[in-house]
Amino acid sequence: MSIPIHNVDVVVVGSGLAGCAAARECQLAGLDTVVLTKLHPLRSHSGAAQGGVNAALREEDTTLHEFDTVKGSDYIGDQDAIEFMCKQAPATVRWLEKMGAVFSRTEDGEIAQRPFGGQSKPRACYAKDRTGLVCLQTIYEQAHKSGVKFLDEWYMGDILYDKDSKKAYGVVAYNIKDSKMAIFNAKVVMLGTGGYGRAFGINSNAHANTGDALSVVARKGIPLEDMEFVQFHPSGLAGSGVLISEAARGEGGQLFNSEGERFMTKYAPNKLELASRDVVSRAIEQEIREGRGVGSKKDAVHIDLTHLGEDLINERLPELRDLAITFLGQDMVKEPIMIRATGHYSMGGIPANIRTQVRANESELVEGLYASGECSCISVHGANRLGANSVLEAILFGRVSGKSIVEDIKDIELKKADVSEAQIFQAKMDKIINSNGEERVPAIRKELQDSMTLNAGVFRMENTLLVQKELLKNLEKRYENIAIDDKSKTFNIDLQEAIELGHMIDFSKFIVEGAIARRESRGAHYREDFPTRDDENFLKHTMGYLSENGEVTLKYMDVVLGKFKPEERTY
Ligand code: FUM
Repeated sequence: MSIPIHNVDVVVVGSGLAGCAAARECQLAGLDTVVLTKLHPLRSHSGAAQGGVNAALREEDTTLHEFDTVKGSDYIGDQDAIEFMCKQAPATVRWLEKMGAVFSRTEDGEIAQRPFGGQSKPRACYAKDRTGLVCLQTIYEQAHKSGVKFLDEWYMGDILYDKDSKKAYGVVAYNIKDSKMAIFNAKVVMLGTGGYGRAFGINSNAHANTGDALSVVARKGIPLEDMEFVQFHPSGLAGSGVLISEAARGEGGQLFNSEGERFMTKYAPNKLELASRDVVSRAIEQEIREGRGVGSKKDAVHIDLTHLGEDLINERLPELRDLAITFLGQDMVKEPIMIRATGHYSMGGIPANIRTQVRANESELVEGLYASGECSCISVHGANRLGANSVLEAILFGRVSGKSIVEDIKDIELKKADVSEAQIFQAKMDKIINSNGEERVPAIRKELQDSMTLNAGVFRMENTLLVQKELLKNLEKRYENIAIDDKSKTFNIDLQEAIELGHMIDFSKFIVEGAIARRESRGAHYREDFPTRDDENFLKHTMGYLSENGEVTLKYMDVVLGKFKPEERTY
């Protein structure tokens, strides 16, 4: 079978906020730019961000935003990147506004801002409770208008990467419609493929969030950074984990246990429900563990919004009201609704510098490879992200990716791809299709998700993590023996899910290995056996490497410190 090779300047993988923003910058500068996405762009998970995008619009300067972000990160976020992000935030929101994003307004016609967790000022600019979607529609339209070519429902299987020269030069992908493969030979590859929340049983993520690019690059010997830091959002709908935006707490929602106690008074007496996400999530799970949960299984708590009144809820939180009615049959206007912590966001990812160039190791960069958005770790979130900093990060650093590529590409020579380079991925696809194995993808995936939640979730211990490490080895073995029922070439979702499962197993190993080694508690990584932060030994980034034998080995990289000295973090 012949495999076409398409020559382009830039291939962008992923069409969420980061991918669309990067592609637009490249195309406007005259670069021939193709976006590959396994979804339709408007189905990208960026569209699920509900509550807002942060910017210090009405503050004297951005210092407090920087401080809140550094403190939120539990002091492991890189302060140069955080300062840059916070300083650029007001201009980023104005840019969005000029591009046509319709933000909610104050009485005076200014962009409205609401309080969010861990922040000392209301700075989440919002469009009701569908901010991400409004931003995504705007940027997608503008990217389209600029002439970016979008190839929807194409799946990236592999990246073309020369280990010796540390150079990326394209991707191997197939069209989900007919399984036909192609090589996109490019001077630059940009990754904006989103996060990996699907590794956890209860999560707020789209089905697509299977961390594909992370495992693909890790198999090339490129490290993954700080993978042990996984955010659990405090308010997922009970049962499904579907997101109930932090906007619900920002607008005044209060949390209650089965005894009618407003329990955040115990855990964060100053900030209460608006403490940072890691603190609120742990509080909720602790209440459930101690038997004060609500619902028939006692595995949820209540968020009460009834005091806000129907008009305010309909004006500012209409989607949330709908979601709770649809999934739980509970109308937040009339009664408290049931929530619990839900796997939400990956602070770790593909390591990238402030220009979004991917790191080949602690000191070198990969030529021709850029990453931004949730799949990347530029380390603006450190150990815990503040709500509404992700939309900001994705848009800002997506644009930075585009601009960096435009600057750098003139010095990059195209390395010619050979058709044989698609063979590794072709062989992987063939093996799955032709296998008569006894294992099934959904069963292994469910075991992975349930066990990750249990052993590497909100609370972790050395023994649970070691159990999980062994379990992952076992799942990996069983994965070798999977078979799928659909052998066709047309929209073969069985095949895609099988490939995705392989990615989920691989990157989960990084989460677990990083968590075993980090014998302290910091941000979203909470070790019950090491409940305090240990700056002396662990104020450093984890860099995980996948070895040939499938094991993850760890190295460490310095944190970029700055004007905010690490101090105790209380809310
Ligand atoms: O709660 C939310 O609206 C989610 C926003 C975010 O994760 O930044």
